[in-house]
Amino acid sequence: MMQLVTKADHDDLVRIASLSGLESDLLRSPGITRWLDRRARTLGLDEKSHRAMLMQSEEERRILSEQVAVPESWIGRYPVSFDLLRERAHAEKWNSSVFRVLSLGCAAGQEPFSAAACILDAGVPAAKIEVVAVDRSRSAIEMGMNGDLPAMAVRGELPIYMRHRLERSGRRWKVGDELRSLVTFVEADVVSQSIPIEPESCHVVFCRNVLIYLESDARDRLSRRAASYLRENGVFFSGHADPPHDLRKTLAPLDRPGAFAWCRRSDETIRIPHESPPTVASRPMPIRTERRPLKKASAPEVTPVVSLASPTEVEEIHRVADFGRLSEARGLAEGLLALHPADPSVILILATIDSADGRVEAARDHLRRALYLNPDNLSALFQMAVLCESEGELELGARFRRRMDRIDSDGGLEE
Ligand SMILES: C[S@@+](CC[C@H](N)C(=O)[O-])C[C@H]1O[C@@H](n2cnc3c(N)ncnc32)[C@H](O)[C@@H]1O
Repeated sequence: MMQLVTKADHDDLVRIASLSGLESDLLRSPGITRWLDRRARTLGLDEKSHRAMLMQSEEERRILSEQVAVPESWIGRYPVSFDLLRERAHAEKWNSSVFRVLSLGCAAGQEPFSAAACILDAGVPAAKIEVVAVDRSRSAIEMGMNGDLPAMAVRGELPIYMRHRLERSGRRWKVGDELRSLVTFVEADVVSQSIPIEPESCHVVFCRNVLIYLESDARDRLSRRAASYLRENGVFFSGHADPPHDLRKTLAPLDRPGAFAWCRRSDETIRIPHESPPTVASRPMPIRTERRPLKKASAPEVTPVVSLASPTEVEEIHRVADFGRLSEARGLAEGLLALHPADPSVILILATIDSADGRVEAARDHLRRALYLNPDNLSALFQMAVLCESEGELELGARFRRRMDRIDSDGGLEE
Protein backbone atom coordinates (compact mmCIF):
# COMPACT_ATOMS: atom_id res chain seq x y z
CA MET A 1 0.00 0.00 0.00
CA MET A 2 1.36 3.44 -0.89
CA GLN A 3 2.11 5.64 2.11
CA LEU A 4 1.30 9.32 2.15
CA VAL A 5 4.14 11.53 3.29
CA THR A 6 2.80 14.58 5.08
CA LYS A 7 4.55 17.94 5.30
CA ALA A 8 5.19 17.24 9.02
CA ASP A 9 6.84 13.86 8.19
CA HIS A 10 8.97 15.56 5.59
CA ASP A 11 10.02 18.35 7.97
CA ASP A 12 10.87 15.83 10.68
CA LEU A 13 13.10 13.87 8.32
CA VAL A 14 14.86 17.02 7.15
CA ARG A 15 15.48 17.98 10.79
CA ILE A 16 16.75 14.51 11.71
CA ALA A 17 19.03 14.52 8.66
CA SER A 18 20.36 17.92 9.58
CA LEU A 19 21.01 16.89 13.21
CA SER A 20 22.85 13.83 11.92
CA GLY A 21 24.77 15.83 9.29
CA LEU A 22 23.30 13.54 6.61
CA GLU A 23 22.00 14.32 3.14
CA SER A 24 18.20 14.36 3.70
CA ASP A 25 17.33 12.49 0.45
CA LEU A 26 19.11 9.47 1.87
CA LEU A 27 16.54 9.15 4.66
CA ARG A 28 13.73 8.82 2.13
CA SER A 29 15.14 5.84 0.25
CA PRO A 30 12.97 2.70 0.45
CA GLY A 31 15.66 0.78 2.32
CA ILE A 32 15.88 3.39 5.09
CA THR A 33 12.09 3.83 5.18
CA ARG A 34 11.73 0.10 5.78
CA TRP A 35 14.46 0.18 8.42
CA LEU A 36 12.80 3.11 10.23
CA ASP A 37 9.50 1.15 10.24
CA ARG A 38 11.14 -1.96 11.68
CA ARG A 39 13.14 0.00 14.21
CA ALA A 40 10.04 1.81 15.53
CA ARG A 41 8.22 -1.53 15.88
CA THR A 42 11.19 -3.12 17.67
CA LEU A 43 11.23 -0.25 20.15
CA GLY A 44 7.43 -0.52 20.60
CA LEU A 45 6.95 3.02 19.28
CA ASP A 46 4.73 4.49 16.61
CA GLU A 47 6.46 6.36 13.78
CA LYS A 48 5.86 9.78 15.24
CA SER A 49 7.29 8.89 18.66
CA HIS A 50 10.29 7.27 16.99
CA ARG A 51 10.96 10.43 14.99
CA ALA A 52 10.74 12.44 18.22
CA MET A 53 13.25 10.04 19.76
CA LEU A 54 15.58 10.48 16.79
CA MET A 55 15.47 14.22 17.28
CA GLN A 56 16.38 13.92 20.94
CA SER A 57 18.77 11.00 21.11
CA GLU A 58 22.23 11.23 19.65
CA GLU A 59 22.67 7.49 20.18
CA GLU A 60 19.55 6.71 18.12
CA ARG A 61 20.84 8.99 15.36
CA ARG A 62 24.17 7.17 15.45
CA ILE A 63 22.34 3.88 14.93
CA LEU A 64 20.38 5.40 12.04
CA SER A 65 23.58 6.80 10.48
CA GLU A 66 25.08 3.32 10.45
CA GLN A 67 22.21 2.21 8.24
CA VAL A 68 22.86 5.06 5.83
CA ALA A 69 26.66 4.99 5.57
CA VAL A 70 27.19 1.25 5.80
CA PRO A 71 30.61 0.42 7.28
CA GLU A 72 31.71 -1.63 4.31
CA SER A 73 35.03 -1.63 2.53
CA TRP A 74 37.61 -4.06 1.27
CA ILE A 75 41.33 -4.68 1.39
CA GLY A 76 43.25 -2.74 -1.25
CA ARG A 77 40.22 -0.82 -2.55
CA TYR A 78 41.41 1.47 -5.38
CA PRO A 79 44.69 -0.46 -5.88
CA VAL A 80 46.48 2.46 -7.58
CA SER A 81 46.16 4.52 -4.39
CA PHE A 82 48.10 1.84 -2.51
CA ASP A 83 50.78 1.77 -5.23
CA LEU A 84 51.19 5.49 -4.70
CA LEU A 85 51.26 5.11 -0.92
CA ARG A 86 53.93 2.45 -1.23
CA GLU A 87 56.09 4.77 -3.38
CA ARG A 88 55.71 7.61 -0.89
CA ALA A 89 56.58 5.36 2.02
CA HIS A 90 59.59 3.94 0.15
CA ALA A 91 60.89 7.46 -0.49
CA GLU A 92 60.59 8.23 3.23
CA LYS A 93 62.02 5.02 4.61
CA TRP A 94 65.39 6.50 5.62
CA ASN A 95 63.75 9.49 7.17
CA SER A 96 63.96 9.49 10.96
CA SER A 97 60.42 10.71 11.59
CA VAL A 98 57.36 8.54 12.08
CA PHE A 99 55.30 7.82 8.96
CA ARG A 100 51.77 8.70 10.06
CA VAL A 101 48.52 7.85 8.29
CA LEU A 102 44.98 8.84 9.21
CA SER A 103 41.94 6.98 7.92
CA LEU A 104 38.68 8.88 8.43
CA GLY A 105 35.62 6.65 8.03
CA CYS A 106 37.76 3.51 8.26
CA ALA A 107 34.92 0.92 8.46
CA ALA A 108 36.30 -2.25 10.14
CA GLY A 109 39.89 -1.40 9.25
CA GLN A 110 40.13 -2.66 5.67
CA GLU A 111 41.66 0.66 4.54
CA PRO A 112 44.06 1.34 7.47
CA PHE A 113 45.26 -2.29 7.61
CA SER A 114 45.95 -2.17 3.85
CA ALA A 115 47.85 1.09 4.35
CA ALA A 116 49.93 -0.28 7.23
CA ALA A 117 50.81 -3.42 5.25
CA CYS A 118 51.84 -1.36 2.22
CA ILE A 119 54.11 0.87 4.28
CA LEU A 120 55.75 -2.16 5.93
CA ASP A 121 56.20 -3.66 2.48
CA ALA A 122 57.91 -0.46 1.34
CA GLY A 123 60.62 -1.08 3.94
CA VAL A 124 59.60 1.34 6.68
CA PRO A 125 60.32 -0.29 10.07
CA ALA A 126 57.23 -1.10 12.15
CA ALA A 127 58.48 1.14 14.96
CA LYS A 128 58.19 4.14 12.63
CA ILE A 129 54.64 3.49 11.42
CA GLU A 130 51.53 4.92 13.04
CA VAL A 131 48.10 4.48 11.52
CA VAL A 132 45.08 6.03 13.20
CA ALA A 133 41.68 4.79 12.09
CA VAL A 134 38.47 6.58 13.01
CA ASP A 135 34.84 5.63 12.49
CA ARG A 136 31.61 6.31 14.31
CA SER A 137 30.32 2.76 13.87
CA ARG A 138 30.89 0.99 17.19
CA SER A 139 30.57 -2.48 15.70
CA ALA A 140 33.05 -1.66 12.92
CA ILE A 141 35.58 -0.24 15.40
CA GLU A 142 35.23 -3.36 17.55
CA MET A 143 35.94 -5.61 14.56
CA GLY A 144 39.00 -3.51 13.72
CA MET A 145 40.31 -3.63 17.28
CA ASN A 146 39.90 -7.41 17.30
CA GLY A 147 41.52 -7.73 13.88
CA ASP A 148 38.45 -9.66 12.80
CA LEU A 149 37.23 -8.75 9.32
CA PRO A 150 34.03 -9.89 7.56
CA ALA A 151 34.10 -12.33 4.62
CA MET A 152 33.54 -9.52 2.08
CA ALA A 153 36.62 -7.63 3.30
CA VAL A 154 38.55 -9.48 0.62
CA ARG A 155 37.30 -9.29 -2.96
CA GLY A 156 39.27 -11.16 -5.57
CA GLU A 157 42.98 -11.80 -5.08
CA LEU A 158 44.63 -10.77 -1.85
CA PRO A 159 47.21 -8.04 -2.71
CA ILE A 160 50.81 -9.20 -2.33
CA TYR A 161 51.49 -6.82 0.57
CA MET A 162 48.66 -8.47 2.52
CA ARG A 163 49.84 -12.06 2.09
CA HIS A 164 51.03 -13.57 5.37
CA ARG A 165 49.41 -10.65 7.16
CA LEU A 166 45.81 -11.74 6.82
CA GLU A 167 44.47 -15.26 7.20
CA ARG A 168 41.15 -16.94 6.71
CA SER A 169 39.32 -17.83 9.88
CA GLY A 170 36.20 -19.76 8.90
CA ARG A 171 34.27 -17.39 6.65
CA ARG A 172 36.01 -14.35 8.14
CA TRP A 173 39.55 -12.96 8.06
CA LYS A 174 42.00 -12.60 10.91
CA VAL A 175 44.56 -9.80 10.82
CA GLY A 176 48.10 -10.71 11.95
CA ASP A 177 49.44 -9.32 15.23
CA GLU A 178 52.14 -7.13 13.67
CA LEU A 179 49.63 -5.29 11.52
CA ARG A 180 47.18 -4.95 14.39
CA SER A 181 49.84 -3.35 16.54
CA LEU A 182 50.32 -0.59 13.96
CA VAL A 183 46.72 0.60 13.80
CA THR A 184 45.00 2.54 16.57
CA PHE A 185 41.21 2.56 16.33
CA VAL A 186 39.15 5.45 17.62
CA GLU A 187 35.37 5.58 17.80
CA ALA A 188 34.37 9.13 16.97
CA ASP A 189 32.25 11.22 14.68
CA VAL A 190 34.77 12.72 12.30
CA VAL A 191 32.62 15.76 11.62
CA SER A 192 31.91 16.87 15.16
CA GLN A 193 34.34 15.16 17.53
CA SER A 194 38.01 15.74 18.12
CA ILE A 195 40.59 13.22 16.98
CA PRO A 196 43.82 12.68 18.92
CA ILE A 197 46.09 13.77 16.09
CA GLU A 198 48.26 16.84 15.81
CA PRO A 199 47.40 19.18 12.95
CA GLU A 200 49.81 18.94 10.00
CA SER A 201 51.38 15.75 11.31
CA CYS A 202 50.20 13.14 8.77
CA HIS A 203 51.97 11.96 5.65
CA VAL A 204 48.71 10.59 4.33
CA VAL A 205 45.02 11.13 5.05
CA PHE A 206 42.32 8.84 3.66
CA CYS A 207 38.81 10.28 3.57
CA ARG A 208 37.07 8.06 1.05
CA ASN A 209 33.38 7.47 0.53
CA VAL A 210 32.40 9.43 3.61
CA LEU A 211 31.78 12.95 2.26
CA ILE A 212 29.11 11.69 -0.15
CA TYR A 213 26.75 10.89 2.71
CA LEU A 214 26.97 14.29 4.33
CA GLU A 215 24.93 17.43 3.86
CA SER A 216 26.88 20.32 2.40
CA ASP A 217 27.84 22.05 5.65
CA ALA A 218 29.13 18.85 7.25
CA ARG A 219 30.92 17.98 4.00
CA ASP A 220 32.76 21.30 3.99
CA ARG A 221 33.72 20.98 7.64
CA LEU A 222 35.04 17.48 7.20
CA SER A 223 37.04 18.09 4.03
CA ARG A 224 38.66 21.19 5.58
CA ARG A 225 39.38 19.30 8.72
CA ALA A 226 40.79 16.23 6.96
CA ALA A 227 43.21 18.40 4.98
CA SER A 228 44.33 20.21 8.12
CA TYR A 229 45.94 16.99 9.43
CA LEU A 230 48.26 16.78 6.42
CA ARG A 231 51.88 17.87 6.43
CA GLU A 232 53.14 19.93 3.55
CA ASN A 233 53.33 17.61 0.50
CA GLY A 234 51.23 15.03 2.34
CA VAL A 235 48.78 13.01 0.26
CA PHE A 236 45.02 13.13 0.58
CA PHE A 237 43.11 10.15 -0.82
CA SER A 238 39.47 10.75 -1.70
CA GLY A 239 36.90 8.28 -3.03
CA HIS A 240 35.91 8.08 -6.70
CA ALA A 241 32.80 10.15 -6.06
CA ASP A 242 33.88 12.63 -3.42
CA PRO A 243 36.95 14.64 -4.45
CA PRO A 244 37.61 17.58 -2.09
CA HIS A 245 37.63 20.02 -5.00
CA ASP A 246 36.47 22.89 -2.79
CA LEU A 247 39.96 22.81 -1.22
CA ARG A 248 41.81 23.72 -4.38
CA LYS A 249 43.86 26.35 -2.60
CA THR A 250 45.17 23.73 -0.21
CA LEU A 251 45.17 20.54 -2.26
CA ALA A 252 46.44 19.99 -5.80
CA PRO A 253 45.21 16.94 -7.74
CA LEU A 254 47.95 14.39 -8.44
CA ASP A 255 48.14 13.09 -11.99
CA ARG A 256 47.67 9.43 -11.09
CA PRO A 257 44.51 8.01 -12.68
CA GLY A 258 42.59 5.71 -10.38
CA ALA A 259 44.35 6.86 -7.19
CA PHE A 260 42.02 9.82 -6.50
CA ALA A 261 44.95 11.49 -4.81
CA TRP A 262 45.72 15.11 -3.89
CA CYS A 263 48.82 16.76 -2.55
CA ARG A 264 48.89 19.39 0.18
CA ARG A 265 50.34 22.45 -1.51
CA SER A 266 51.51 24.66 1.30
CA ASP A 267 51.23 24.94 5.00
CA GLU A 268 48.44 27.46 4.83
CA THR A 269 46.55 27.25 8.14
CA ILE A 270 43.13 25.67 7.87
CA ARG A 271 40.65 26.64 10.55
CA ILE A 272 39.31 23.52 12.27
CA PRO A 273 35.67 23.69 13.34
CA HIS A 274 34.57 23.16 16.97
CA GLU A 275 34.80 19.57 18.17
CA SER A 276 34.01 17.46 21.25
CA PRO A 277 36.19 14.56 22.56
CA PRO A 278 35.98 11.09 21.00
CA THR A 279 33.88 8.40 22.68
CA VAL A 280 36.43 5.59 22.87
CA ALA A 281 40.10 5.28 22.00
CA SER A 282 41.44 1.77 21.62
CA ARG A 283 44.70 2.63 23.39
CA PRO A 284 46.34 5.85 24.48
CA MET A 285 47.67 7.61 21.43
CA PRO A 286 51.45 7.76 21.26
CA ILE A 287 51.66 11.04 19.37
CA ARG A 288 55.36 11.21 18.61
CA THR A 289 55.63 14.49 16.86
CA GLU A 290 56.65 18.02 17.54
CA ARG A 291 54.41 20.55 16.01
CA ARG A 292 56.30 22.41 13.32
CA PRO A 293 55.99 26.17 13.48
CA LEU A 294 53.74 27.43 10.74
CA LYS A 295 55.42 29.36 8.00
CA LYS A 296 53.85 32.72 7.39
CA ALA A 297 53.99 32.38 3.60
CA SER A 298 50.58 32.81 2.06
CA ALA A 299 49.05 30.18 -0.22
CA PRO A 300 49.52 30.57 -3.95
CA GLU A 301 46.47 32.13 -5.56
CA VAL A 302 44.63 29.57 -7.64
CA THR A 303 41.84 30.63 -9.91
CA PRO A 304 38.85 28.39 -9.21
CA VAL A 305 38.31 27.26 -12.80
CA VAL A 306 36.69 23.88 -13.39
CA SER A 307 38.99 21.82 -15.55
CA LEU A 308 37.07 20.04 -18.31
CA ALA A 309 37.91 16.92 -20.28
CA SER A 310 37.95 17.27 -24.04
CA PRO A 311 34.69 16.20 -25.76
CA THR A 312 36.69 13.71 -27.87
CA GLU A 313 37.94 11.93 -24.76
CA VAL A 314 34.41 11.70 -23.37
CA GLU A 315 33.02 10.47 -26.70
CA GLU A 316 35.70 7.81 -26.87
CA ILE A 317 34.59 6.46 -23.49
CA HIS A 318 30.96 6.47 -24.66
CA ARG A 319 32.03 4.43 -27.68
CA VAL A 320 33.87 1.87 -25.55
CA ALA A 321 30.83 1.60 -23.24
CA ASP A 322 28.47 1.24 -26.21
CA PHE A 323 30.47 -1.82 -27.27
CA GLY A 324 29.69 -3.31 -23.87
CA ARG A 325 33.32 -3.04 -22.66
CA LEU A 326 32.15 -1.59 -19.39
CA SER A 327 35.14 -2.22 -17.17
CA GLU A 328 37.48 -0.74 -19.77
CA ALA A 329 35.17 2.27 -20.08
CA ARG A 330 35.08 2.62 -16.30
CA GLY A 331 38.89 2.56 -16.09
CA LEU A 332 39.15 5.27 -18.74
CA ALA A 333 36.46 7.39 -17.11
CA GLU A 334 38.01 7.05 -13.65
CA GLY A 335 41.35 8.12 -15.08
CA LEU A 336 39.73 11.16 -16.67
CA LEU A 337 37.89 11.97 -13.45
CA ALA A 338 41.17 12.06 -11.53
CA LEU A 339 42.33 14.78 -13.93
CA HIS A 340 39.02 16.64 -14.13
CA PRO A 341 37.27 15.88 -10.83
CA ALA A 342 34.52 18.45 -11.26
CA ASP A 343 33.68 17.85 -14.92
CA PRO A 344 29.98 16.91 -14.99
CA SER A 345 30.26 15.06 -18.31
CA VAL A 346 32.85 12.68 -16.83
CA ILE A 347 30.86 12.17 -13.63
CA LEU A 348 27.72 11.47 -15.64
CA ILE A 349 29.40 8.98 -17.93
CA LEU A 350 30.60 7.08 -14.86
CA ALA A 351 27.01 7.08 -13.57
CA THR A 352 25.84 5.69 -16.92
CA ILE A 353 28.50 2.98 -16.94
CA ASP A 354 27.67 1.96 -13.38
CA SER A 355 23.91 1.87 -14.07
CA ALA A 356 24.52 -0.28 -17.15
CA ASP A 357 26.66 -2.58 -15.05
CA GLY A 358 23.99 -2.94 -12.35
CA ARG A 359 26.06 -0.96 -9.79
CA VAL A 360 23.15 1.06 -8.61
CA GLU A 361 24.74 2.53 -5.49
CA ALA A 362 27.89 3.59 -7.33
CA ALA A 363 25.74 5.21 -10.05
CA ARG A 364 23.76 6.99 -7.37
CA ASP A 365 26.96 8.29 -5.75
CA HIS A 366 28.10 9.81 -9.05
CA LEU A 367 24.74 11.42 -9.65
CA ARG A 368 24.71 12.85 -6.13
CA ARG A 369 28.14 14.25 -6.83
CA ALA A 370 26.98 15.84 -10.09
CA LEU A 371 24.01 17.37 -8.28
CA TYR A 372 26.21 18.60 -5.47
CA LEU A 373 28.31 20.44 -8.06
CA ASN A 374 25.25 21.75 -9.83
CA PRO A 375 21.81 21.13 -8.28
CA ASP A 376 20.21 22.19 -11.59
CA ASN A 377 22.00 19.68 -13.80
CA LEU A 378 19.08 18.35 -15.84
CA SER A 379 20.89 15.27 -17.13
CA ALA A 380 21.82 14.26 -13.59
CA LEU A 381 18.27 14.86 -12.34
CA PHE A 382 16.88 12.84 -15.23
CA GLN A 383 19.29 9.93 -14.68
CA MET A 384 18.53 10.03 -10.95
CA ALA A 385 14.76 9.92 -11.64
CA VAL A 386 15.13 6.97 -14.02
CA LEU A 387 17.42 5.12 -11.62
CA CYS A 388 15.00 5.60 -8.69
CA GLU A 389 12.05 4.48 -10.81
CA SER A 390 13.86 1.36 -11.99
CA GLU A 391 14.61 0.55 -8.33
CA GLY A 392 10.90 0.92 -7.46
CA GLU A 393 11.54 4.18 -5.59
CA LEU A 394 8.66 5.93 -7.25
CA GLU A 395 8.16 8.69 -4.70
CA LEU A 396 11.84 9.66 -4.84
CA GLY A 397 11.87 9.43 -8.65
CA ALA A 398 8.88 11.77 -8.79
CA ARG A 399 10.71 14.27 -6.62
CA PHE A 400 13.61 14.41 -9.09
CA ARG A 401 11.15 14.88 -11.95
CA ARG A 402 9.48 17.73 -10.06
CA ARG A 403 12.90 19.35 -9.64
CA MET A 404 13.40 19.04 -13.41
CA ASP A 405 10.00 20.63 -14.05
CA ARG A 406 10.80 23.51 -11.72
CA ILE A 407 14.07 24.19 -13.55
CA ASP A 408 12.32 24.01 -16.92
CA SER A 409 9.63 26.43 -15.84
CA ASP A 410 12.17 28.82 -14.25
CA GLY A 411 14.09 28.73 -17.51
CA GLY A 412 17.08 27.30 -15.60
CA LEU A 413 20.10 26.31 -17.59
CA GLU A 414 21.86 23.00 -17.42
CA GLU A 415 25.56 22.95 -16.47
C1 LIG B 1 31.23 3.41 2.73
S1 LIG B 1 32.28 3.31 4.12
C2 LIG B 1 33.82 3.72 3.39
C3 LIG B 1 34.96 2.97 4.02
C4 LIG B 1 36.33 3.26 3.41
N1 LIG B 1 36.76 4.60 3.71
C5 LIG B 1 36.29 3.06 1.91
O1 LIG B 1 36.34 4.00 1.13
O2 LIG B 1 36.20 1.90 1.50
C6 LIG B 1 31.88 4.81 4.98
C7 LIG B 1 32.36 4.77 6.43
O3 LIG B 1 32.31 6.08 6.96
C8 LIG B 1 31.79 6.02 8.27
N2 LIG B 1 31.22 7.34 8.58
C9 LIG B 1 30.25 8.01 7.90
N3 LIG B 1 30.02 9.19 8.49
C10 LIG B 1 30.88 9.28 9.53
C11 LIG B 1 31.11 10.27 10.54
N4 LIG B 1 30.43 11.42 10.55
N5 LIG B 1 32.05 10.03 11.47
C12 LIG B 1 32.76 8.87 11.45
N6 LIG B 1 32.57 7.90 10.54
C13 LIG B 1 31.65 8.10 9.60
C14 LIG B 1 30.77 4.92 8.21
O4 LIG B 1 30.49 4.39 9.49
C15 LIG B 1 31.47 3.92 7.30
O5 LIG B 1 32.26 3.02 8.02
